[in-house]
Amino acid sequence: MNDEQMHPDGELVVRTLAMPGDANPKGDIFGGWVLSQMDIAGGLIAKQHAKGGRAVTVSIDGMSFKNPVKIGDMVSCYAKLIEHGRSSMKIKIETWTYCFDKEEHKMVTNGVFTYVAIDENGKPCQIIKPIKAA
Ligand SMILES: CC(C)(COP(=O)(O)OP(=O)(O)OC[C@H]1O[C@@H](n2cnc3c(N)ncnc32)[C@H](O)[C@@H]1OP(=O)(O)O)[C@@H](O)C(=O)NCCC(=O)NCCS
Repeated sequence: MNDEQMHPDGELVVRTLAMPGDANPKGDIFGGWVLSQMDIAGGLIAKQHAKGGRAVTVSIDGMSFKNPVKIGDMVSCYAKLIEHGRSSMKIKIETWTYCFDKEEHKMVTNGVFTYVAIDENGKPCQIIKPIKAA
């Protein structure tokens, strides 16, 4: 992760609020909840590239969390297609928080999620209309 990065890279796809139900008793948001938001964001981008068809998550690159997410933070996931093959799509996803009290934006984590477009039988199928990779 680039420590110097000051602004998100990619399209804003998911924005939500970190709630008490997403945290442990000390108020730290579960990493799995963050991953789930990122997977939703990447899945939506993948679906666009599969022209509205099905796309499944097949792998997630090793990820680390640089900053915590706290209850009440605004959580935003930014995503963009960086590479694709016949049926697979690599989508870079970044998660940023905004703390209203401190008026502070921070990058929490980023990673590359790979999705595969599948047909009605669950078999990989050609991306119908690949959009230009960034
Ligand atoms: C995704 C899935 C359909 C791929 O099936 P498969 O038989 O492995 O397909 P193939 O070997 O023909 O590969 C298809 C594409 O996936 C890519 N791929 C397969 N496994 C991959 C992996 N682990 N990481 C990255 N890409 C992978 C291949 O490179 C290929 O890409 P291309 O078409 O762009 O060249 C199958 O593995 C599957 O259904 N997995 C479960 C996905 C899922 O349910 N995710 C949610 C879990 S809750």
